[in-house]
Amino acid sequence: MANIDWDSLGFDAYRTRTVVFSHYKDGKWSPAQSTETFSFTFDPFAQVFHYAISCFEGLKAFRQKDGGAVIFRPGENAARMARTAGYLGLPVPDADMFVKMCEECIRGNLEFLPPYGHKASLYLRPLLMGMHPQMQLVPYPEAVFAVMCAPAGSYYGEHLKSFSAVIPGNYDRAAPKGSGSYKIGANYASTFKPYKTAHDQGYTELLYLNSGTREFVDEFGSSNFFGIRGNSYITPLSDSVLPSITNKTLQEVAADFGMTVEKRPVPVDELDTFEEAGACGTAVVITPMSHIDMKPVLEEETVSRSFRFVPDGTVGPVCTKLYNRITGIQFGEVEDIHGWCHHVDL
Ligand code: PLP
Ligand code: COI
Repeated sequence: MANIDWDSLGFDAYRTRTVVFSHYKDGKWSPAQSTETFSFTFDPFAQVFHYAISCFEGLKAFRQKDGGAVIFRPGENAARMARTAGYLGLPVPDADMFVKMCEECIRGNLEFLPPYGHKASLYLRPLLMGMHPQMQLVPYPEAVFAVMCAPAGSYYGEHLKSFSAVIPGNYDRAAPKGSGSYKIGANYASTFKPYKTAHDQGYTELLYLNSGTREFVDEFGSSNFFGIRGNSYITPLSDSVLPSITNKTLQEVAADFGMTVEKRPVPVDELDTFEEAGACGTAVVITPMSHIDMKPVLEEETVSRSFRFVPDGTVGPVCTKLYNRITGIQFGEVEDIHGWCHHVDL
């Protein structure tokens, strides 16, 4: 077992033991290999460098209460990567290969799989990159698919605590009819500058509106948005939002609790009516927001509106209940009635 303080893990690019990879060339994937040097050979003309032909996934493996190891809903991530790869014109690792390479990555890095009882997991990061050296703007079926991992605790530094977000009036995440619903690296590149500015101002997250009319809530830079009003779980329906597997899971969990699930456009004005609101995703799990400010220009001081949900740092009862249920299933403390946990033979 690695010498790690499992309780204080954040979300970092940790150097573990191995990365598993396969190369697609001449119509087929090479047998999966592991590298302990973490080094690949790239042609400097490879598409990934010039045209950002790259996409990734994020999923977690858990050591459960009974000692077993599981991956949470890996088939969903495999399907989402296949959809994204199709968008980029990249060869698609099929679901069987995707899941097997994730399992191989866990087995090769077993000492980094956090023991049960620390609210920590092994975050798996499958990455697919266009490797063909070319200048033309055309897809080409040559790629590397690699699965790496990192032990992960809380994305924002503390579990189940509320943070703040800002709506940056002068930035969009995705173009209308653009690539927002695909998990391509380029979607994240455009968030780095506004994230830096927001963090410098003390905000934790960026909440993006729909870029066309800016009337509706889309999602956070790292995760989906949900709001709670009465007995309803409300989350945006938008073509530009990444279809989050955590959000899909929470919708089912909310329905299990007898809540009404509403997936529909969420007007900005409706933020005023939520009793709780938060971010959801693999990395952030459920992260409640205490308040969300709206700034016409992120770099300037003016806050045009402020939406308050819960006192700073605190967490509402519904977010707590949803968090406990989803993490309870992941850690094997609550019965997995939907069959979401994929058991891994170690
Ligand atoms: N939205 C964005 C932009 C993300 O990067 C993520 C993270 O994967 C999510 C939403 C949440 O998706 P998931 O729950 O599948 O991790
Ligand atoms: C994940 O939750 O898996 C992500 O990919 C989020 C990351 C971009 C911060």
